[in-house]
Amino acid sequence: MARVNANYDKLAAGYLFPEIARRTKAFIEANPGATVMRLGIGNTTEALTPAILDGLRQGVEKLADNSTYTGYGDEQGDSRLRQAIAGSYAERGAQIEAGEVFVSDGAKPDAANIQSIFSQDAVIAVQDPAYPVYVDSNVIAGRTGESRDGTYEGLVYMRCDESNGFFPHPPEQKADLIYLCSPNNPTGAVASKEQLKEFVDYARKNKAVIIFDAAYAEYISDKSLPRTIYEIEGAKECAIEINSFSKTAGFTGVRLGWTIVPKALLAEGAEAGKINSLWNRRQCTMFNGASNVVQEGGLAALSQKGRTESARLIEYYMGNARVIVDGLKSKGLTVYGGVNAPYVWLKTPNGMKSWDFFDKLLNECRVVGTPGSGFGPAGEGFFRLSAFGHRENIDKAVESIKVNLVL
Ligand SMILES: Cc1ncc(COP(=O)(O)O)c(C=O)c1O
Repeated sequence: MARVNANYDKLAAGYLFPEIARRTKAFIEANPGATVMRLGIGNTTEALTPAILDGLRQGVEKLADNSTYTGYGDEQGDSRLRQAIAGSYAERGAQIEAGEVFVSDGAKPDAANIQSIFSQDAVIAVQDPAYPVYVDSNVIAGRTGESRDGTYEGLVYMRCDESNGFFPHPPEQKADLIYLCSPNNPTGAVASKEQLKEFVDYARKNKAVIIFDAAYAEYISDKSLPRTIYEIEGAKECAIEINSFSKTAGFTGVRLGWTIVPKALLAEGAEAGKINSLWNRRQCTMFNGASNVVQEGGLAALSQKGRTESARLIEYYMGNARVIVDGLKSKGLTVYGGVNAPYVWLKTPNGMKSWDFFDKLLNECRVVGTPGSGFGPAGEGFFRLSAFGHRENIDKAVESIKVNLVL
């Protein structure tokens, strides 16, 4: 008799974004002809840049001729791309070898799958609030108990709030796997070198492993802030880093990411090299490599021309973030983030619940955002606005908030 994985039943009812879509649809049905401005999902909106399009076209052309055609590639990724990614770390003073780079179809699958190479009894620590996949993948894997009031039994929540600038200190108790995301989705907070060092020190002392999600690293303009955890001495012994072309180069739909598993990484009972070879084994067994066409696009994105063009794209989105931050501040709202990250984290007025503010913003301003409580219990009372969008829509949304939001 087949039985389903009962851990799925533990997942907090409904994923955040389908619920946003449901409420938005209901509003549009009740208000025919109303135009809704969506600042909810962190989805890129601007066209791919010329250098990347050239790379993708070259990838397609190669498939048109038997002499350049390729079928399955290496599960770990095209060696030229692995080399180029490794090279990009050298610029930040981190020595990463191509053999430590695993190319994938995105950061989300890697963030979800990485837990599978660690023991079932690993104690998981997450930032609260956090990008949901870190928690949900561990719930599904059976590393938590039930959820009560949005808090899973057995998980260590590292509260991120105004008192700590939305970046936590390492937990008091022992944790084995620690998920960190900087620049952070949803709060827009960015860890300093000193803050990351605290975690690296904790992890080395406790033989813990940090899973560092750097998907928004390229949005950091402040040169003093670390763009990779490997800028911190000793991080190669204790940290895995996940990254993506999604937000850097507009690949949200194209799909390409990577994970760095250093050979020096250590864990209880795992000597240097072991975790790298486990992830290699996992990928060879369960993944057949990223698309060859897309990897050509990734290589182009890492060329000098590609990077210059992508930097402009990021500047565009960060211009949107400034419009949002300035608009909300002029309305007297308390806002965080939006400076080195494409997310603005606003404090709901008058202590409103996040979902109540969602309804208020939709009804009064026709703007869709994301309730902070969807990212964890400490997100209650906060609300995320995304800077991904066409400027004219962002301008309209902010104008509508300024004019229509009743405080
Ligand atoms: C923190 C974080 N990591 C990973 C992802 C997903 O990246 P990808 O598109 O490469 O799967 C997102 C997407 O919103 C994200 O916010």
